[in-house]
Amino acid sequence: MTTPLVSMHGLSRAFVSSKGMFGESRTMRAVDDVTLGLPAGKVTGVVGESGCGKSTLARLALRLIEATSGSVSFDGVELGGLGPAEMRQIRRRMQMVFQDPYSSLDPRYTIADSLLEPFAIQGLMPVGATRKERVAELLDMVGLAQSTASNFPHQLSGGQRQRVGIARALALKPQFVVLDEPTASLDVSIQAQIIELLERFQQQFGLTYLFISHDLSLVRYFCNQIVVMYLGRIVEVMAAPDARPQHPYSRALLESTFAPDPAKRRIVQPLGGEIPSPFALPPGCAFAARCANVSERCRRERPALADTDAGGRVACHHPNR
Ligand SMILES: Nc1ncnc2c1ncn2[C@@H]1O[C@H](COP(=O)(O)OP(=O)(O)OP(=O)(O)O)[C@@H](O)[C@H]1O
Ligand code: SF4
Ligand SMILES: [Mg+2]
Repeated sequence: MTTPLVSMHGLSRAFVSSKGMFGESRTMRAVDDVTLGLPAGKVTGVVGESGCGKSTLARLALRLIEATSGSVSFDGVELGGLGPAEMRQIRRRMQMVFQDPYSSLDPRYTIADSLLEPFAIQGLMPVGATRKERVAELLDMVGLAQSTASNFPHQLSGGQRQRVGIARALALKPQFVVLDEPTASLDVSIQAQIIELLERFQQQFGLTYLFISHDLSLVRYFCNQIVVMYLGRIVEVMAAPDARPQHPYSRALLESTFAPDPAKRRIVQPLGGEIPSPFALPPGCAFAARCANVSERCRRERPALADTDAGGRVACHHPNR
């Protein structure tokens, strides 16, 4: 793997809730002690069930939210130490594409306005005829008709809106792009087109992607390294897309993703058994109640993330080798 463009070290984010049974405040770690490098020019996939902390990890990586502990560096610069002006500068180089382009595009803005917004935010608004040219280039790049410029978001299909979302994210020529379930709300046929587009830009511009998905089979197709999260922690890192998953949870996730309909895939529960409350994790392995390989040791001792022979990492006392 190449040098990481983004490095996370011992990264954690806690949320406090006051909804305990007796009104007491309780703390959960949405992201817990994550150490991970995102290799430059490569695609890192993050998979895991709803609520495991994928979006929180993405927001931390872009410093859209502050970490409770740990650090993130981008191209060797630690983000936590930057002031607002420096942060704004570096933000040009990192962008995000959201799951639902409908909620990320302002309904009152034309598509042209939405495409120009990143320039406005950075104080780089093109002037005169260049403004129209920029919009035209961006529409062309993502395969949208020029007439789309004067449309409003509600006049476009889901796939077209996501193309606008992608054009907007790429407008300032970033190096790092977070894709938070970019195709989860789209039909299968449209999903394939959007993935193809994202793949093309990744290669063309040598982009570094953090690609978040519920769908391990999609991630295996698209990503160079795969991170599996469970209840805020990394349980496995697969160093190659075709690596055999060793953690019992990763295997269950993979087996659950054969349903061809993504709407069904999203709701598939890979395993029975109880998911512990994130507010009261058991002392040992958080997956113990759902695991076929469980032993007494698993209930007692939390497995650390350790290197595997295949060049990945796994947090399990009895991995499937
Ligand atoms: N601002 C917040 N305040 C309180 N709790 C939060 C906040 N943001 C996230 N959480 C909690 O942190 C956990 C992780 O949430 P996150 O959105 O990162 O999960 P996710 O893996 O992206 O889920 P999904 O697949 O549904 O998008 C969840 O239990 C969620 O309820
Ligand atoms: S540590 Fe034990 S309970 Fe946890 S995943 Fe591995 S075998 Fe299963
Ligand atoms: Mg999410």
